[in-house]
Amino acid sequence: MAKAGLFAIRDVGSLIKGTAEEGSELKKAVGVTQLTAMGVGAIIGTGIFVVIGKGAGIAGPAVILSFVLAALACVFSALSYAELASSIPVSGSAYTYTYATLGEVVAWVIGWDLILEYGVSVAGIAIGWGGNLNAFLDAAFGVSLPDAIAKSPEDGGVFNLPAVFIVLAITALLIRGVTESARVNLVMVVIKLVVLVFFIVVAFVNFSTANFHPFAPAGADGVTAAAAIIFFAYIGFDAVSTGSEEARNPARDLPWAIIGSLIICTFFYVLTTAGALGIASPDQMKDSDAPLAAALDQGAGMPWAAGILALGAVVAITSVVLVIFYGQTRIFFAMCRDGLLPRRMAKVNPRFGTPARLTVTLGVLIAILAALVPLGTIVELVNIGTLFAFVLVNIGVIVLRRTRPDMPRPYRVPWSPVLPLIGVAFAVYLMSDLPLDTWIRFGVWLAAGLIIYAVYGYRHSLVRRNAESSQRRD
Ligand code: ALA
Repeated sequence: MAKAGLFAIRDVGSLIKGTAEEGSELKKAVGVTQLTAMGVGAIIGTGIFVVIGKGAGIAGPAVILSFVLAALACVFSALSYAELASSIPVSGSAYTYTYATLGEVVAWVIGWDLILEYGVSVAGIAIGWGGNLNAFLDAAFGVSLPDAIAKSPEDGGVFNLPAVFIVLAITALLIRGVTESARVNLVMVVIKLVVLVFFIVVAFVNFSTANFHPFAPAGADGVTAAAAIIFFAYIGFDAVSTGSEEARNPARDLPWAIIGSLIICTFFYVLTTAGALGIASPDQMKDSDAPLAAALDQGAGMPWAAGILALGAVVAITSVVLVIFYGQTRIFFAMCRDGLLPRRMAKVNPRFGTPARLTVTLGVLIAILAALVPLGTIVELVNIGTLFAFVLVNIGVIVLRRTRPDMPRPYRVPWSPVLPLIGVAFAVYLMSDLPLDTWIRFGVWLAAGLIIYAVYGYRHSLVRRNAESSQRRD
């Protein structure tokens, strides 16, 4: 019998068959290469081009180890994402998986939490885009935007115009449709890999070991504290799963795309970080809005290379904004479709075949955040939200193995529950290294979400209503 109440569970079978009503079905247009590109497109961005500087400031050269630690923290959860994404290939990522495993109220909490990972992080990524745009303008033309229109109030400006610009431009692109967006994304991903190879080659040609001493000035604590921050650089591999309803063959393609994109990015990050430290000291990078460009300019004395790198970063980060924003629209879409948020928001625009109304609403809210809040605050909040999502996804795998042992699982996490539990442990470990302020903001965010659920979602939930009416019939 269907379960009702707070812990109403969405039936996995009906999810896969698609309970979409007319007018809310998405086109199936995406294959494995595009999915992997979505992963890489979502991952390599502001983290490696900007947040690396903050990490180097905390851990010194040992930030290389922080990158490895953060990658390890992701790998176990990536396997859990892969299992759930291949078994439940519908829009909505962790939100949908949780609905099918832990029940409605937990699904709402995770959906609300994912707004931090996706919506709020788009604002942070856009700020990194602006920093690199300014570095490019400076290197190429010797001009840069004044602080008043290039920084948040806390950083000494009035508002961040470049960040607002990129958010609104991507909003328009997403409204035009997934096929075009995925194609544009593929081109941008190739460009970003070429740019990182360029950086790595230039850095290794000019490499010196001088900056590697002392290697870990803040010790092991510095390494973990930096890992909790530069974890941001890995966020995004799960964005692949948010596109699963649009995938042509999700069972086969999703696990490959998620794990493959994570491995590709880790490889590039370790080489890039080693290269950066080979040409610049942590002090030269830590306060810069575009630390890799600063490493080439001030560290290696090659402003022309800094200009090329900054331009490449602008392109690279554009694709991150695109994919993460895309993920957010799909999660919201799923939440609206289930009635936890107003269903009329999920209406698909007949001309473009995309949820245009919802995309515009999100675009405006994200642009306001990007205009006014500093990058550091955003990164910490995004990280805590994402790590919390990892915890629930890993638990979801364990629970679903018990509650639905016969469900077809095209991909299975090996040695469950051991690996998912290691995933939980890593996530909690990194969360515990984030500042108290971040925990308080996170708590306030979750509390606000629960109030909205009590006032709106609980009463409008389709799953709960269906479960209750079927109970009455029984
Ligand atoms: N991983 C993404 C970035 O680095 C969020 O920008």
